[in-house]
Amino acid sequence: MYTSDGGLAGLHIVLGLSGGVACFKSAELLRVLTKAGATVQVVMTAAAEQFITAVTMQALSGRPVYTSQWDAREPNNMAHINLTREADAVLIAPASADLMAKLAHGQADDLLSLLCLARPVHTCPLLIAPAMNREMWAHPATQRNAAQLRADGTVILGPDNGDQACGETGDGRMLEALDLLAEVVSFFQPKSLLGKTVLITAGPTYEAIDPVRGITNLSSGKMGFAIARAAAEAGAQVTLVAGPVALDTPRGVRRIDVRSAQQMFDAVLPAAPRHDVFIATAAVADWRPAAPATHKIKKNADKSVPSFQMTENPDILASVAALPDRPYCVGFAAESQDLLKHAREKLQRKNVPLVVGNIGPATFGADDNALTLVDAQGHTELPRADKLSLARHLVAEIARRLAANTA
Ligand code: CTP
Repeated sequence: MYTSDGGLAGLHIVLGLSGGVACFKSAELLRVLTKAGATVQVVMTAAAEQFITAVTMQALSGRPVYTSQWDAREPNNMAHINLTREADAVLIAPASADLMAKLAHGQADDLLSLLCLARPVHTCPLLIAPAMNREMWAHPATQRNAAQLRADGTVILGPDNGDQACGETGDGRMLEALDLLAEVVSFFQPKSLLGKTVLITAGPTYEAIDPVRGITNLSSGKMGFAIARAAAEAGAQVTLVAGPVALDTPRGVRRIDVRSAQQMFDAVLPAAPRHDVFIATAAVADWRPAAPATHKIKKNADKSVPSFQMTENPDILASVAALPDRPYCVGFAAESQDLLKHAREKLQRKNVPLVVGNIGPATFGADDNALTLVDAQGHTELPRADKLSLARHLVAEIARRLAANTA
């Protein structure tokens, strides 16, 4: 089975550390970057060395750490040039207020600021993760520097809001290692949906029988959440309407939690016309108990079994597809057999331009899947792979069709 490369395979990153307590997170960041496939060259300022040793960073990266612009190991003694010529990006985490000030003014009196100035800006982007006390971050000088850095093309990741090492609470915390990894992986994804808005349904729905029981299904929501992440990585503004699932919201995605099919319908229908794309991955319950009991249904002494009248839920996808100003609609078909036949039948019945077929029992809850894309032209197989890789392929296929549609 093809598995995701972690998102950074083949990439070479210069990881710069400036002085800050958040240096303790940089060791973990280095670990997750290398685990995601990147090779990482660490560069530390003298202030960073006050917080974490070069020994730790060398051991984790498998490469000697650079700390000085006078490093004689380089044959030409030009570490500031050599390091960035082989790099796909420079990532500075933590970026202190002092380092940001230096970068904003093009100062270059130590190796890290020097290599930032000496890097080829078009082939070696600069990403920084600020880390500082909230007053330092909010100070007009820092905000001015941040604005200047953005104007110069620097990507600023975070900062986060929360408890700070100094005991205060506010904006200025460095993002956690996994959040930074997600941001860096996202940065390198093609921006095929830049400026587009995407609405996605995901997970199962839950239809109440009484206050403690209900009808649901085995959908885990993993495929829908992976698609939400992939669409956000591709530059789209993503709204995810999720049934009851235990999954973290992908970074940058707006999430609306719902429980029943009717709640999902109520959240989706008014929002749909404001979106360019609608992707219905949710396993929506087809029916619900017509009159859920107000109180828990109790066992009867006569051993009689309760029976329920069922009523049909609204079809969210078909309703969106019937809107006069409908977005580009993508349906899913979770089948147990005859995938192609059922997917094609759904394409017509729901009047949508693309249906993605998969074998439900083989994928519910799993981390991998195989997809069959069915449209008016024919069908395309996306072979078994992890759900994030498939989601990225699917997003690229949707972007291609969307561009052809609007051309
Ligand atoms: N769908 C929906 N609202 C429903 C039922 C389904 O939006 N009430 C969407 C699903 O999210 C999926 C597509 O319609 O994108 C197909 O769902 P599926 O359950 O496979 O199809 P059904 O129309 O319910 O047909 P059947 O259960 O008979 O296969």
